[in-house]
Amino acid sequence: MTVLLMAGTREAMALATALHHAQIDAIASLAGVTRNPNALELPTRTGGFGDEAGFRDYLIEAGIKGVVDATHPFAARITSRTARVCREMGIPYLQILRPAWEPVAGDRWHFIDREEEAAALISPGETVFLGTGRQTLEKFANLAGCRVICRQIDPPEKPFPFPGGEYLIGRPPFPVVDEIALFERLKVDWLVVKNAGGDASKTKLTAARAKQIPVIMINRPAMPDAPRVETVEDALAWVQRL
Ligand SMILES: NC(=O)c1ccc[n+]([C@@H]2O[C@H](COP(=O)([O-])OP(=O)(O)OC[C@H]3O[C@@H](n4cnc5c(N)ncnc54)[C@H](OP(=O)(O)O)[C@@H]3O)[C@@H](O)[C@H]2O)c1
Repeated sequence: MTVLLMAGTREAMALATALHHAQIDAIASLAGVTRNPNALELPTRTGGFGDEAGFRDYLIEAGIKGVVDATHPFAARITSRTARVCREMGIPYLQILRPAWEPVAGDRWHFIDREEEAAALISPGETVFLGTGRQTLEKFANLAGCRVICRQIDPPEKPFPFPGGEYLIGRPPFPVVDEIALFERLKVDWLVVKNAGGDASKTKLTAARAKQIPVIMINRPAMPDAPRVETVEDALAWVQRL
């Protein structure tokens, strides 16, 4: 029995390690968007499957008997497709989805559904720190006229897509003290974040609270109606029951 682990998150890394230690036959799959991804303790294939037909072919050729989807809470397309294809092919499917962040006392959060809506809250000339990654950067083009700082893991391959922007290279984790120092140094007026959830990238929210910096929180996309757990432990137990 081979299990396919759809990876790209910390939960995927942890589950890969757990499956390895439990000696469960499993393959991890990465989209290949990060140039030097952290290694997983499982045999790993990298890159998209081409399309839905390619994914179906892969599931058959690799003899996949169960799929754990530990992709990112904002990777809605791959999750919707994977859940539907598995249902149609009769392959057991489970998503690991960590809980969303909730504001606590002292937070100044504004919630939006789409990146383009951030501009309605921000005044021209203000400094905006995007913790949202490079994939959605173009969606913030209506912030031209602000100073926009986009943090990403890999060095940029192309110029900033609109005027007034700059890249900042950094690979998580980012300790709270470093985030506070960074926001002070850059004189950040606004922090824009996807509601990814999880402890690892929460430090920027703690830093924003400490500095009383307002946060624009992008709500999560809808996820399919499919089996779901919140933790790696529950996902491991599900695999062991297969
Ligand atoms: N969106 C984010 O904010 C974010 C943040 C951190 C990490 N990630 C990770 O980066 C990857 C891409 O994110 P996205 O938002 O672009 O996803 P997406 O829009 O849901 O998926 C785009 C395409 O990427 C390929 N893909 C995605 N995950 C894959 C995986 N684990 N293995 C093989 N192919 C995969 C598929 O290509 P084919 O159609 O060719 O099969 C899919 O159609 C995901 O694995 C996600 O976990 C995303």
